[in-house]
Amino acid sequence: MFQVIAEKPVDGPEIEKLLDQSFGPNRLERAAYCLRGDKPPIPELCFVLRGAIFLCATIRYWPVVIEGSHPALLLGPLAVGQAWRGRGLGKILINHSLARARALGHGAVLVIGDPAYYQPFGFTTELVENLTLSKSVDSCRFQGLELQPGALRGRSGLVENKCDHRREGG
Ligand SMILES: CC(C)(COP(=O)(O)OP(=O)(O)OC[C@H]1O[C@@H](n2cnc3c(N)ncnc32)[C@H](O)[C@@H]1OP(=O)(O)O)[C@@H](O)C(=O)NCCC(=O)NCCS
Repeated sequence: MFQVIAEKPVDGPEIEKLLDQSFGPNRLERAAYCLRGDKPPIPELCFVLRGAIFLCATIRYWPVVIEGSHPALLLGPLAVGQAWRGRGLGKILINHSLARARALGHGAVLVIGDPAYYQPFGFTTELVENLTLSKSVDSCRFQGLELQPGALRGRSGLVENKCDHRREGG
């Protein structure tokens, strides 16, 4: 039986190991890592799934800012251990964390990832077509989701890593 639980500091080493296994040794060079910078993730949106013994999956979110003043969430990394893939664990973590983000008043979520995986959750490239990233990515992999209607529509400009993240809403 798997349980979604809030990430704790003690989970750090197991999460790092899972991320190394899932994304490979060069993961820190990926565009999403550059966008996260050296800031910590948003603690209330970091979850893990544990089985009886092992940490099986992790999801984290980072704060970003669009055009200097519009806060958004950057989803990821999301990783499910090889042995537990294809059982809906990624889906559980995404649905759980997005519901939490919505409840906390966040308005918009960005992700750089496989569109075939993220589009069923409502992510689209259309919502971010006027947003730019400092490191180039395949445009079909950059997607957005509105948790509050209108939070992304019509937005344009650079998505940056900013120290001072203010939430939209509560
Ligand atoms: C991608 C990943 C998180 C999926 O985790 P998972 O627990 O196996 O995924 P789920 O079982 O929750 O799958 C949910 C749905 O997505 C589909 N799916 C799973 N992996 C997919 C993929 N790589 N591409 C497209 N669809 C995928 C499933 O078939 C399922 O569809 P359904 O709801 O119609 O049944 C996992 O394979 C992983 O950790 N990969 C390595 C790291 C990575 O790529 N992370 C994502 C960053 S983009």
